Amino acid sequence: MFHIIVRENYDEVSSEAFRIMKDVLKLERPVLGLATGSSPVGLYKKMIADHNTNGTSYRKAITFNLDEYIGLPKEHEQSYWTFMHENLFDSIDIPEENIHIPVGDSEDEELECRNYESALEKYRIDLQILGIGTDGHIAFNEPGTPFDSVTHIMELTEQTRSDNARFFDDEIAQVPTHAITMGLASIMRAAKIVIIATGANKADAVYGMIKGEKSTDCPASILQDHPDVTVLLDQAAAARIL
Ligand code: GLP
Repeated sequence: MFHIIVRENYDEVSSEAFRIMKDVLKLERPVLGLATGSSPVGLYKKMIADHNTNGTSYRKAITFNLDEYIGLPKEHEQSYWTFMHENLFDSIDIPEENIHIPVGDSEDEELECRNYESALEKYRIDLQILGIGTDGHIAFNEPGTPFDSVTHIMELTEQTRSDNARFFDDEIAQVPTHAITMGLASIMRAAKIVIIATGANKADAVYGMIKGEKSTDCPASILQDHPDVTVLLDQAAAARIL
């Protein structure tokens, strides 16, 4: 079930996401599913500000990230490991051992997928944060990914690689071709999901997710079957559903 909230701008959208996060952080041992990309950055800034001002602690929090590029070592400036440390983890008090991010440069990628999924199975994510790709992907589950997928290797579409080229000096050739990603079934196990989308380039994907036919052509449409999804949008991203 979708609970749709439309706000004036990105800052207000991020505040709504933070309000939901703050509630989950009251749990004894919150398990957080985290995303990369520009969409959750405002939320992460608010989490850091709150940690600094109010002392909210992440010492008992456990985190699982959605995905990682294959071929990039942790230290690579565009790895999702680096992104998460720069945008959140280095500025809060979460113990490094509580952080889970798929390893992008493991020797055996299939084994890494299986290990990641087994780590995930030991917990239930209390709150999963998501963004959405312009092609309707969530995490790196591109169109065509089966709804019953668990952590797997995904070949990225041209559109996704071109969307993400902005982080790689605008050179699509530098964007990795594959990623390790939680599957759609892995994501659906979360108790609560918050999906953040802003900007006109997300309007079609948002429409497909909410009003489109439930189909693997739009991976985010699987969320139509989840009992607790809050969709946080600005006016531009909401243009086609209002
Ligand atoms: C990437 C990530 C997704 C993210 C999407 C949208 O491909 N793997 O998890 O949701 O892009 O990114 P952005 O928030 O920057 O628009």
